[in-house]
Amino acid sequence: MALADLDETDTYDFKGATFDLNDPADREILRFILSQALYGEATGVYCGKSLYSAGSLEAAHFYVRQAKQELAHLELFADIFRTLDMKPLPAHWVIKLLSSHNNYYPLKVLMEHAIGEGMVLDIFKDILLQTLPDSDPRVPLIKKKLRVVCREEVEHVAWGEKETKRLLAEKPWLKTPYWGLVELQMAVLPMLVRAFEKRAGNHPVLSHLPGFLEHVRTRVYKQSKDLGISPSEERPGGVKRAWAMGYGLALFVRSQFARSESRLEKIYIEELGLDGDGHAGGSRRPAREREDRDSPADRAALD
Ligand SMILES: [Fe+2]
Ligand SMILES: [Fe+2]
Repeated sequence: MALADLDETDTYDFKGATFDLNDPADREILRFILSQALYGEATGVYCGKSLYSAGSLEAAHFYVRQAKQELAHLELFADIFRTLDMKPLPAHWVIKLLSSHNNYYPLKVLMEHAIGEGMVLDIFKDILLQTLPDSDPRVPLIKKKLRVVCREEVEHVAWGEKETKRLLAEKPWLKTPYWGLVELQMAVLPMLVRAFEKRAGNHPVLSHLPGFLEHVRTRVYKQSKDLGISPSEERPGGVKRAWAMGYGLALFVRSQFARSESRLEKIYIEELGLDGDGHAGGSRRPAREREDRDSPADRAALD
């Protein structure tokens, strides 16, 4: 099952453990987590840059819509900081690395749209929705807003997965570097929680961090198997993995010098369905399908 179809069984169970919003130490931990979310949403707005490489009108519509949603998420997290009377911290280097912009579209699709957004969803859905205490009067409205964000993030992951599969079908050689990149992403993930390791033992929420980390890794490996990236058999040994990681790293380095390639001006006539026998049939997709599908109900819930 792909992440986009997730249900409650994909959720890590914190067994009722919550933060205490009146405890200074707990507030500092939450401030760290929310600061990473805020930074992630700020860089998420740059998904709009994928518009330049969009290979179809459907993709162009999606990135315009997603950029608007990420901008709304950014402001929503700012509201959460204000509500909880907190000031954001600079982002952790792992978050900066994982959300760094990439001009090479195939890498952006896998690392940001499919895998990256999937992990963002893990943090919002599992950590924030479970560990913010409902007993605090500020929390129910925060959770209501977070649920809207989660619903939209599920759609972003679904798009990333669909686009990853399309690119893999088009360029099957991407499979090995893609696998290596997933392994590399998983290798840096534990560094994010190192700061909390010493305190993890006796804290109701932090003591779950190793279990949560394992849950995320297992889910990502399954997602990458479902996408046809990781080998479907038992996880291969170190040599094969190291080779794939080297290949992935080489592609990543190459991508840092890549220039994104514009698409729409090359495909617009065909995409608009105007390339046939001279009879202008209009767009290949009905207008109501192409409408910006931002649900008014969803937006209203954010206000
Ligand atoms: Fe977002
Ligand atoms: Fe997103």
